[in-house]
Amino acid sequence: MTDLLIHSMAEFSDLIFGSLQRAGARHIVEIGAEYGGMSHLLADFATTVGGHLTSIDPAPQPAFIAWAAATPAVTHIAAPSLEVIDDLQAVDAWLIDGDHNYYTVYHELLGADAVCARDCKPLLVFLHDVSWPTGRRDMYYAPDRIPAAFCHPHEFGAGAMLGQVDLVPGQGFRGGSSWAMANRSGGVRNGVLTAVEDFIAGAGSAGRPLAFAHIPAVFGLGVLFDVDAEWSADVAALVAPFHDNPLLAAVEHNRLRNYLKVIEWQDRAAGASFNQ
Ligand SMILES: C[S@@+](CC[C@H](N)C(=O)[O-])C[C@H]1O[C@@H](n2cnc3c(N)ncnc32)[C@H](O)[C@@H]1O
Repeated sequence: MTDLLIHSMAEFSDLIFGSLQRAGARHIVEIGAEYGGMSHLLADFATTVGGHLTSIDPAPQPAFIAWAAATPAVTHIAAPSLEVIDDLQAVDAWLIDGDHNYYTVYHELLGADAVCARDCKPLLVFLHDVSWPTGRRDMYYAPDRIPAAFCHPHEFGAGAMLGQVDLVPGQGFRGGSSWAMANRSGGVRNGVLTAVEDFIAGAGSAGRPLAFAHIPAVFGLGVLFDVDAEWSADVAALVAPFHDNPLLAAVEHNRLRNYLKVIEWQDRAAGASFNQ
C-alpha cells in the first residue's frame, strides 16, 4: 500500500471524536495500531479528558512501541485481541481495526459486549473496514490463529478486484506476504460487515436494540451503539447523515477504481524492471 491511499481511522476523526465527546468517553480501547496514525489522536483526546487509551496490537510498527512506552496516557498490550479482551476494565468506547475477518471481529464484538455488560457500561464501537474489500471477504494477518471451521480457503499473493467474487493471482488489491484474503467473497461467516450483522441479529433476538451506521468511505466505518444509552440520540444525530450516503459511496468507488489502476501500473513497472 502506498501513501497514495489514505487508510487510517484518523480520516474519520470528526465523527469519532465528536461521538466520543457526546458519549463522555474516557477509557478507549483501540484494537490494531499499526503506525499509530489514530492512536496519537486518541491519546491526545484521552489526555484532554483525563482518560486513558489501551492499545492492543501483536505487531505494530517499532516506532509505535517506543511512542506508547513514553506516553503516560497510553498502555500498549502486545497480543492478539481475543487473548486479552476479557481482562479489560471499564471501557467506554472501542475502535476495532485489527484482523479483518469474520471470526476475529465477531468474537471481538462478543468480548467487548461482555466487558461492557459486566461493568454496567453501554456499548459504543467504531469498526473499520466494513466496506470493500473486507466487508464480505475475510482477510487474515495470521490464518493459523483462526479456527479451521471459520478459516476460508485463502491466498497471500492473489488480489481482490471490484465486482469480482474470486481473487485474481498476482493482481488487484492484495497484501503480499503481510496478509491473505479469502479466495471468494460473500456467503456465510465471511467478512467484517457479515460479522457485525450477525452480532446485531444475536443481540436483537435477545430483545436488545442496537443502532448501526455504515459510513461508506475510506474502506467503510461502522458505528455501533446501544440505543438505550443516555447519549445515543446525540451520537445518532452526528453519524446518521453519513449512513449509506450515496455521494460518499460514489466517491469511494471512484477512489478504489483509481487505486486499482495505480496497483496495475505498479505491477506492470515491477514486471518490466524484473524482465530487463
Ligand atoms: C490496518 S492496521 C491498523 C490501523 C490503525 N488502526 C489506524 O487507523 O491507523 C491493522 C493492525 O492490526 C494489527 N492486528 C492484526 N491482527 C490483530 C489482532 N488479532 N489483534 C489486534 N491487532 C491485530 C496489525 O498488526 C496491524 O498493525
